[in-house]
Amino acid sequence: MMNNKFIKPVALKIVAFAIILIAPLYASASGGGALLQHAGNDVADVASLQRGARNFVNYCMGCHSAKYIRFSKLRDDLQLSDDQVQENLMFGAKTSDELMEISMAPADAERWFGQTPPDLTLIARSRGTDWVYSFLKSFYLDDRTATGTNNLLLPGASMPNVLWALQGQQEAVFHTTEKDGVVTEHFAEASYFEAFELVEPGAMSPEAFDQFVRDLVNFLDWAGTPEQLERQRLGIWVILFLFVFLIFAYLLKVDVWKDVK
Ligand code: HEC
Repeated sequence: MMNNKFIKPVALKIVAFAIILIAPLYASASGGGALLQHAGNDVADVASLQRGARNFVNYCMGCHSAKYIRFSKLRDDLQLSDDQVQENLMFGAKTSDELMEISMAPADAERWFGQTPPDLTLIARSRGTDWVYSFLKSFYLDDRTATGTNNLLLPGASMPNVLWALQGQQEAVFHTTEKDGVVTEHFAEASYFEAFELVEPGAMSPEAFDQFVRDLVNFLDWAGTPEQLERQRLGIWVILFLFVFLIFAYLLKVDVWKDVK
């Protein structure tokens, strides 16, 4: 019979293991605070990926490349025909074997923006989908900057608000604090951010704009890890295999141990 001496350490280990498993979930749920909005994209949604690819080539590829992706990969994974890719997604490239590169010279970009717009193939992996989603929705008017806008998540960003015609223009409201009768404004300080106010409506409703950005982020999510669709499909088979294997392993165990009792 098992005694307390044995049960206690085992129970402790199980509890510790559970905490190790669960703690990161809490950390990621609370991380980022109110500045980050949930992207809520779904890489299995092919229609959304197609729209995202269209949004990307039309609104981002003037400045950003996705140079680790070939147009033919778009065709295959996003279930498009060669003609659809050529007509709707390829502007500079001649054949679909080409990479999603851009023609803007890095030196020119540096002169115009102060820095070269980074390649975006891996941006959803390095920054996270929620960050990219929130970044694209967090531009606000600020006449003290060269672009006329600022960004809550990347203060002083040299990227202009390229989606303003769709989203409209928004202002950011920040808390003021008062100490000994002195009122301090905290403009552009993320930790004092309160809310955005739309001061000029864009061509899209806020819901339609959210969907536009979600599709874009979905595309970037796929671009960073194109194999994730295949991985999920395969994962189900692997788990099924392990489950069937478990049955055999259990039967074997019963057989081997049957004489020992
Ligand atoms: C007119 C050129 C231009 C266009 C068009 C443009 N960007 Fe940018 N983008 C930039 C520049 C320049 C930076 C660097 C900003 C900085 O670090 O200050 C940047 C930075 C970014 C970053 C932050 C990268 C990081 O981790 O610091 C993201 C994300 C991004 N762009 C996404 C997009 C997306 C998505 C689109 C299309 C909707 C887009 N950009 C369109 C110029 C552009």
